[in-house]
Amino acid sequence: MDEPLVIEGGRPLRGSVRVSGAKNASLVIMAACVLVQGETVLENIPRIRDVEVLGAILTSLGARLTWGEDGSLSITVPDNIGVETPYDLAKRLRASNLLLGSLLGKRREARICLPGGCDIGSRPMDLHLKGLAALGADVRLEHGFVEARAGRLTGSRVYLDFPSVGATENIMMVATLTPGQTIIENAAKEPEIVDLANFLNAVGARVRGAGTDVIRVEGVSELRGTRYAVIPDRIEAGTFMAAAVATGGDVVVGNVIPTHLYPIIAKLQETGATIVEVPEGLRVIGNGEIMPVDIKTLPYPGFPTDMQSQMLALLSVARGTSMVVENVFENRFAVVDELSRMGARIKVEGHTAVVEGVPRLCGTKVKATDLRAGAALAVAALMAEGVTEIDNSHYVYRGYERFAEKLRSLGAAVR
Ligand code: UD1
Repeated sequence: MDEPLVIEGGRPLRGSVRVSGAKNASLVIMAACVLVQGETVLENIPRIRDVEVLGAILTSLGARLTWGEDGSLSITVPDNIGVETPYDLAKRLRASNLLLGSLLGKRREARICLPGGCDIGSRPMDLHLKGLAALGADVRLEHGFVEARAGRLTGSRVYLDFPSVGATENIMMVATLTPGQTIIENAAKEPEIVDLANFLNAVGARVRGAGTDVIRVEGVSELRGTRYAVIPDRIEAGTFMAAAVATGGDVVVGNVIPTHLYPIIAKLQETGATIVEVPEGLRVIGNGEIMPVDIKTLPYPGFPTDMQSQMLALLSVARGTSMVVENVFENRFAVVDELSRMGARIKVEGHTAVVEGVPRLCGTKVKATDLRAGAALAVAALMAEGVTEIDNSHYVYRGYERFAEKLRSLGAAVR
C-alpha cells in the first residue's frame, strides 16, 4: 500500500521541471525489444511502476534487463523467449497486450493473458486480433487468454475501424518480421507510434508513413540491437502545464517536443494562459483567472483523452461553463465524483461533462480511480483551499516519475 499524496493548496508553482521519457513510447518499445537480436540499450525510460511491471514480465519470459549507471535500460532477449505472459503480472498492466505482436512476430506464437490496467472503459482487442488474423495468424480468445499461432505469416492490407494505438502498434511489430508488405490503413498517428517506427527502423526494420493514416511495413528477416532514446512524455508535460496554469504560476517545462503539445497548448491558451517557447522548453504563465473552454477528446492530433481529467480539474474553477466531450474511453468521468467532493460543479450526461466553474475548490480526502484521475486530483489539490489527501496514489506512480518530488521542486507543499 502506498502512502496517500497529501497536498496543501494555494501556492503558485514557480521554477522549472524536466519531463521524463514517454510512458507509452517506453512500454511499446520495451515490448518491441522482443523482436530484436542482441542487446538493445534504451535511454530516457522513466522509472515508473508500469515500466517495472513490464520489465518483470519480460524477465519472467527469459529476457535480461539491467539498468545502467547512466539511467539507460539494457534489454537482451533469448531466441527461445517464453510465449505466455504470467497472469499475476499481466493483470496489472494493460500494455502487456503489446507483447502479443512482438511475441507472435518473434516466436510465431503467443499466449497473452487478457490484460488489466486502468478501468477507464471497456477496452476490447478486436482490432488487434483482426489485424493479426489478416497477416495469417490463427487467433483465439479462450479462458481469459488471447492465443495466436502462425505457421506462416504474409504481409497484407489491414483497415482499422478506429485508429487504435495498441492495435496499430501490435500490427506494426508483427509486420516487421513478416515477409511481404503490410499496409495499415486508418492507423493511429500518435507521436508514440512515430517513436516506435523510428525505433524499429533503427534496429533494421522498414517502416514508412508512421504519423500519417497509412503505415507501410516491408518485412525483413532480422532486427539487430542498437541504442535508442525515447521521446519525452507529452502527457506528463501537459499535466505540469495545467498545474502551472491552475495555480497562476510561472513554470518552464523542459525536455518537451512542442509540436506534440500543440493540442494541449491551444486549449491552455484559450483558458487565458500565456505559453511561449523558450530554449529549454515551454514557459507557462497562468494569469490567475481561468476562462471556460470546450474540449473534445479525439485521436491525435486531436485533444488527448489522457489529458481530459486534468482539464476537468482546471476548468472546475473557470469563470463560466465549459463542455468536455470524451470520445475515446467511456469511463473517463469517474474523477468527477471526487472533484465534486472538493466542491466542483460538474454534470455528466453520456459522453459529455458540463463544468460550471466555481470560485474555489476545498481540500478533503479523495481517491484516485485511475492514473490520469490521480493527476487531475493533484491539479485540483494544488489550487484548493486547505489540505487534500489523495488515496490510491499508486495509480499516479504507474505513470509519473518522481511526481511528488518534481512538484515540490516547483514550490508545492506535497508529502
Ligand atoms: C493507448 C494508451 C492510452 C491512451 C490511448 C488513447 C498505451 C500503453 N496506452 O491505449 O494511454 O489513452 O492509447 O490515446 O499506449 N478499441 C476497440 N478495439 C480494439 C482496440 C481499441 O474498440 O481492438 C477502442 C477502445 O475501446 C477505445 C479506443 O479504441 O475506445 C482507443 O483505444 P486505443 O487507441 O487502442 O488505446 P490503447 O492502445 O489501449
